[in-house]
Parts: sequence; structure tokens; C-alpha cells
Amino acid sequence: MNYEERYRQYVADAEAALKRQAYRCLRKDSAVSDAARYSLFGKGKRVRAVLCLAVCEMLNGSPELAECYAAGVEMLHCYSLIHDDLPCMDDDDLRRGRPSCHKAYGEATALLAGDALLTAAFEALSAARGTARQNVQAVQMLSRAAGANGMVWGQEQDLYYEAHAALVGEEQLKAIHRSKTGELIRAAALLGAIAANADGRQCEAVGEYAEAVGMVFQIMDDVLDVTATEQELGKPIGSDAENGKTTFVTLYGAERSRQIAQELTQDACAKLQKTFGGQSLFLCMLADRLLHRSQ
Ligand code: IPE
Ligand code: IPE
Ligand code: MG
Ligand code: MG
Ligand code: MG
Repeated sequence: MNYEERYRQYVADAEAALKRQAYRCLRKDSAVSDAARYSLFGKGKRVRAVLCLAVCEMLNGSPELAECYAAGVEMLHCYSLIHDDLPCMDDDDLRRGRPSCHKAYGEATALLAGDALLTAAFEALSAARGTARQNVQAVQMLSRAAGANGMVWGQEQDLYYEAHAALVGEEQLKAIHRSKTGELIRAAALLGAIAANADGRQCEAVGEYAEAVGMVFQIMDDVLDVTATEQELGKPIGSDAENGKTTFVTLYGAERSRQIAQELTQDACAKLQKTFGGQSLFLCMLADRLLHRSQ
């Protein structure tokens, strides 16, 4: 299988797992569940699911287990997008190429749809086909990455510094990006490692790679907010400037930001290759595609 075929296969496997989980965790007769499905089954790239599945395959783990974990992390990610778009946060009306959840269903229903997906993510992990030990590790991994010390902290800082832009330098911005985006991407990759019963050395190498990929992902998100089109992105462009956010683009401009992202990617791939040799090829290609993405 070439890279594209493999990516498509991972996405298809993740979508099937998401459908199973949505069937199990959401209701048929509920606007909140409808709103959750609407957001979940929009055109997401499923990057976090692909990372989880590809890491698991690299380490010869069980794909069935990684699929449950991948579905969990994508549900949690989707909750974060629904809440991120709300008027009290980034106030964005377009997501995944269609009206944001609160535009389609109203704010209260969107808020609850996010809550439902956040909760369903942990239901998926705890009911996965792993050993009890694996599932507990998975729940711990995702909850730490997403909670008050992880993504929520990143979102808190992101909003705080809208009003205090003069205080944000590179270190501060990196810390925000690491928390709001990097933690979840790192957790996605490490869930794949947990599904494969990876040892400490393997987890460390995967974690380091995913940390770099997470930083690059948010740097490029910042760049695309000024260089892409709404059609390509499926979300509003210029949202960061409108909200007065400090981003890699406001600090360095788009070109230098791309360069920083490229250096991080090269470094991450070199390290992964050193640990896993030829087995790391897909993940290195993935990092490179995420660096050059246009959506
Ligand atoms: C958007 O994530 C939010 C960020 C952390 C930058 P994605 O770009 O992965 O969004 P989807 O899942 O493809 O819609
Ligand atoms: C997203 O950062 C971080 C999340 C936790 C969702 P952004 O606010 O830049 O993401 P987009 O650009 O709206 O997708
Ligand atoms: Mg935001
Ligand atoms: Mg946003
Ligand atoms: Mg953004």
C-alpha cells in the first residue's frame, strides 16, 4: 500500500469505529445527539485517529484496540472544536465546511453536544477491547492531555492572552500551542503505543515525535488562517486576527513560521527513524504532509 492508500484505509477504519461508538453512546431521539453526530461526521481529516492507528501498526499492536482508542480521541477532539467555535470562545460560524454546531443547533444544544462527546470518549476507552490495565492507561493518558493541565489550560491561556497580547513571546506561545493542540496529538499517538503494549523507550520516542508534530500542526494552523481560503479550510480564515490572537504568524510572519515548522519536522523524523528504522516511514511521511498541508 502506498501512503495515500494507507491513510485512506486508516480513516475508513476510524470512521467505522466512530459509527459503532456513536451508535452505542448517543441517542436516536435527541437534538443533542443529532448535533453531536452532525459535528462528528463532518469532513474531519482524522489526523489524531490516523496517528493512533499508525503508531499501533508500527509497533505491531492490535488494530481493533487502537480503533476504539482512535474513536475516543476523535470524539474528544470534536468536542473541543464545538466548544472552541462558540461565541464565548473563538466565535466562528463555519466548521468542517458547514455551519458550526451552534449555528446549526443553537448554543445550548451545541454546548451539551460537546459535553456528550467528551463523556462518550471516555466511555469508548473504558469499554475498549484491551486489558483492564491498558484501558486504565488509555483513560489516564487522554484525561491528563485534555484536562485542566492540558488542552483546557491551553484554551484558557489562549483566551486570556487575547486581551494581553503585548505579554506573549515565543516561549509563552509555544506553551499555549503545546497545551491546546500538542497534548491531544501526543496522547493520540501514545494511545496507539498503549494499544501495542509498547515499552518505555518506544513510548518516549513516539511521544517526542508527536510533540513536534503537534507543535507543527498548530504552527501551520496559524499560517493557514492567513494564507488559505475558507473553501480549502472549511472554517473561517482571518479568525485569529479578528480575535486579537498572538500566533506564530504575528510573531514571525508566514515564511519564517513555515521554516520553523520544517526544522521541527526534520528533527522529529530523524529521531523517529533512529529508533524505529524503516518501520517509521509512514509516520515520517505523515509529518511531512502535515507540514505541507493546505487544509
Ligand atoms: C483543528 O484541528 C483544531 C486544531 C487543533 C488546530 P483539525 O485541523 O485536525 O480539524 P479537523 O478534525 O480536520 O476538522
Ligand atoms: C484550536 O485552536 C485548539 C482547540 C483545542 C480546538 P484554534 O482555535 O486555532 O483551532 P481552529 O483554527 O478554530 O480550528
Ligand atoms: Mg481557539
Ligand atoms: Mg478556533
Ligand atoms: Mg486556528
